[in-house]
Amino acid sequence: MKEQRTYTEQTIEDIEDGGHGIIKPEGKVVFVEGVLPGEVVDVAITRKKRSHSFAKVTAWHTHSDDRREPFCSHFADCGGCTWQYLPYEGQLRYKERFVADVLRQIGGIEEPVPLPIIGCEEAIYYRNRLDFSFAPVRWITQSEVDSGRTIADRRALGFHVKGRFDRVLEVEHCYLQADPSNAIRTAAREIALAGDYSFHDPVEHTGLLRNLVVRTSGLGGVMVILVIGEERHDLAVAFLSALKERVPSITSGFYLINLTRNDDMSPHPAIHAFGDETITERCGHLQFDIHPKSFYQTNSRQAERLYGIVREWIEAGGKETLLDLYCGIGSIGLFVADLVGSVVGIESIPEAVDRAVENSRLNDIGNARFYAGDVREILATAGGEILGAQHASGPVIPKPDIVILDPPRAGLHPKVLEMLLKLAPRQIIYVSCKPSTQARDLTVLTEQYRIERIQPVDMFPQTFHMENVVDLRLR
Ligand SMILES: C[S@@+](CC[C@H](N)C(=O)[O-])C[C@H]1O[C@@H](n2cnc3c(N)ncnc32)[C@H](O)[C@@H]1O
Repeated sequence: MKEQRTYTEQTIEDIEDGGHGIIKPEGKVVFVEGVLPGEVVDVAITRKKRSHSFAKVTAWHTHSDDRREPFCSHFADCGGCTWQYLPYEGQLRYKERFVADVLRQIGGIEEPVPLPIIGCEEAIYYRNRLDFSFAPVRWITQSEVDSGRTIADRRALGFHVKGRFDRVLEVEHCYLQADPSNAIRTAAREIALAGDYSFHDPVEHTGLLRNLVVRTSGLGGVMVILVIGEERHDLAVAFLSALKERVPSITSGFYLINLTRNDDMSPHPAIHAFGDETITERCGHLQFDIHPKSFYQTNSRQAERLYGIVREWIEAGGKETLLDLYCGIGSIGLFVADLVGSVVGIESIPEAVDRAVENSRLNDIGNARFYAGDVREILATAGGEILGAQHASGPVIPKPDIVILDPPRAGLHPKVLEMLLKLAPRQIIYVSCKPSTQARDLTVLTEQYRIERIQPVDMFPQTFHMENVVDLRLR
């Protein structure tokens, strides 16, 4: 077996925007997991890439004063809350700095300085959705190995262990979603064991119970979606009825039959078992109906603050055309629709577009329309002859006055950037969940735009993920 390269007494210089600590032994960049600047550690290389390597800590020499004991008993094994060893104030401080750093280093942007990050009022129990997995053979933690205790029943309901599709960590309590989430998972496990339901084995591809999704809303909705791996409607209904009996606050029950090897829920229809067909979430002056498979921002309260920033920043006189690109279920466009003349949303997932249309109806918004397709293709029709697409066969998008961008982590395609520069809307508000790709895109947009302001927003406490909003004005 090849020996792992090790380095001793390395001082962590800094942390990067992916949350890893940085050391540079022999001038090479090595990312270390679970460390803070100033800490001194021994490490072993776990993975090598061309420009950098990854390492794990093998011994500690010095701990940072910033470090605290993680509050969750599953921290060592669960891949969820990777930053629990840092108090929330510290997490915010680093996130704020990451934004300034990537904007400067990748985007060459020194000014304006980002506004102070907007943190969450609740740094725990902030998620409105958790996806749990069943497994016939659970992960045995290091502390269980050390204790020498025999675990007779190894069936589990919890989260996948980081990097292991076939191993599930039995979860006693999760701090990410408020009650009744923990009560539902505990009851589901007890029902499964008492009823001797089979747990799905991803390697053998056998067994009934696969996943359990819990979705909650600020208005009291509690939706449970059970995913099963066999065509057994009777068992799914019996399981869900028993769950409703144990946790009466569940308002909506669904199940999905997934006979494939892949855990992706999207191709399979959600079958209604009991209660309401949707749960309703309020977002400022709007309401959204959430179906079992529809996307919704996982931190509802902070999503409202994020959209509030976009709303506050829009400079509109009531007549403008606003393009909401990568619009999902239309949330941002609908949130600001009353400020402009018309909203046009573009999103690649047709079901999300259906939800956007439904959400405009639900909120009595008559000036928004939505198109399903690739932003790159649909945008090419914008403004008719401006982009040379006056003879387009599909929808022709009007020339926008204001554009909202909220792309996936990869950021914008160069063609999309090129088209935006040609369309030259007077204001662009760029919402990003990956400030480094946003910084790269800003190097192109700033050829024609000046940055008015930058606002980092934390949506995901206990992790290094965050959002950043940039307000751009045509020069
Ligand atoms: C970060 S989400 C934005 C969601 C939405 N703005 C919200 O706040 O709920 C990015 C969205 O872009 C969509 N998407 C990804 N690539 C796309 C493309 N090439 N064209 C159109 N939509 C795309 C995804 O399906 C996803 O809904």
